[in-house]
Amino acid sequence: MRVLLIGSGGREHALALKLSQSPLLSALLIAPGNPGTAQCGTNVALAITHHADVISFCQREQIDLVVIGPEAPLVAGLVNDLAQAGIKAFGPSKAAAQLEGSKAFTKELCVEAHIPTAAFARFTEIAPAKAYVRSKGAPIVIKADGLAAGKGVVVAQSIAEAEDAIDAILQGALGSAGAEIVIEDCLIGEEASFFALVDGTHALALASAQDHKRVGDGDTGPNTGGMGAYSPAPIVSADIAERVMAEIIRPTVATMQKRGTPFHGVLFAGLMITTDGPKLIEYNTRFGDPECEVLMPRLESDLLPLLLATIDGTLQTHSPQWSADAALTVVMAAKGYPGTPESGTRIAGLERAEALSNVTVYHAGTALDDHNALIAKGGRVLAVTARGPSIKDAQSRAYEGVAAIDWPSGFYRKDIGWRAV
Ligand code: AMP
Ligand code: GLY
Repeated sequence: MRVLLIGSGGREHALALKLSQSPLLSALLIAPGNPGTAQCGTNVALAITHHADVISFCQREQIDLVVIGPEAPLVAGLVNDLAQAGIKAFGPSKAAAQLEGSKAFTKELCVEAHIPTAAFARFTEIAPAKAYVRSKGAPIVIKADGLAAGKGVVVAQSIAEAEDAIDAILQGALGSAGAEIVIEDCLIGEEASFFALVDGTHALALASAQDHKRVGDGDTGPNTGGMGAYSPAPIVSADIAERVMAEIIRPTVATMQKRGTPFHGVLFAGLMITTDGPKLIEYNTRFGDPECEVLMPRLESDLLPLLLATIDGTLQTHSPQWSADAALTVVMAAKGYPGTPESGTRIAGLERAEALSNVTVYHAGTALDDHNALIAKGGRVLAVTARGPSIKDAQSRAYEGVAAIDWPSGFYRKDIGWRAV
């Protein structure tokens, strides 16, 4: 099969490496990719937002499957346009990607399907939103409805902070993503991520993971896309995993199907594990980054047939094998991230890190300079990942990998995995 993978992050390097090991693969093209994906296939330049260009590229290159990494092309309906041209693509349709594209959409679905989630209300006007917050009290959570690259959620510890967030979002700080807000009760518990493949009708549980969203040690400082992750998440016991499937994932799949907008692809549930059981915080309709970097090393089965089964409706014939090992990844970011990262600084020592047993260094925001030297070009730059018999073991190997990398302009959290170790 000839596969086109779309994206350029650590997630896409992890997907590219896993796909490159498939006996079914004859060619892997990555648009735009990064120096890491270039070791797994061929990077190509392609304007992803021009769907007609993507379609003609696929026709010219005889692409059998398009795998879409990030959310924006899904929400923009790339899967619909490819399907119309007869090209298979892994990921949800535009209508089904609303599970990530609109928080209000997901909350209404939770109501319809009786899915456990925080109580909420929706607002487009400032005054009633503030009145609601005053009636509820703090802490309370204010969310922009649309895609806001991780900047759309404020967990307000006081009414004043909540009112500031309402003003900022409804006055346009996040553009059209903030034309509507969702205000939610604040859930108490431990967060975890849960991944399931869906083929329209059936859901197949993959694995759990835990992310570290804050930039600083001890979960301090601003939110980021994720500074590290591990899988499995010990808080997601077999019993909790079954409850997530029964109370959250399967009702979602059934409701989307009943509405005539079946979901195909991967459902990434952000969960709060509360004393009453798992509650849905939000859905993403793609693999997480850096969660994908800890799922792929644990997946022992071929990924390609699983992705195809989500499109063909044949997931129930699959039961993928997972390693009993844990995996942990430490993100190395450029100084300045999540603000403006320093760009163009040299990075060395990746070979030393990868020579360690069970260590893989996934590239994210890297590039090659004119002398073919590796440089930073982005916020999150590397995801140094290790497998081991326990999270603790994977953690110490991953940090050995980090220590082998010579990049004075980078930084990383020293405590990835602390909750589980
Ligand atoms: P989201 O972008 O929806 O994943 O939200 C970002 C983060 O905000 C989540 O990972 C949680 O840490 C936090 N959060 C969102 N909603 C709630 C909630 N209802 N209760 C507590 N924390 C929340
Ligand atoms: N790491 C969180 C995400 O991919 O959204």
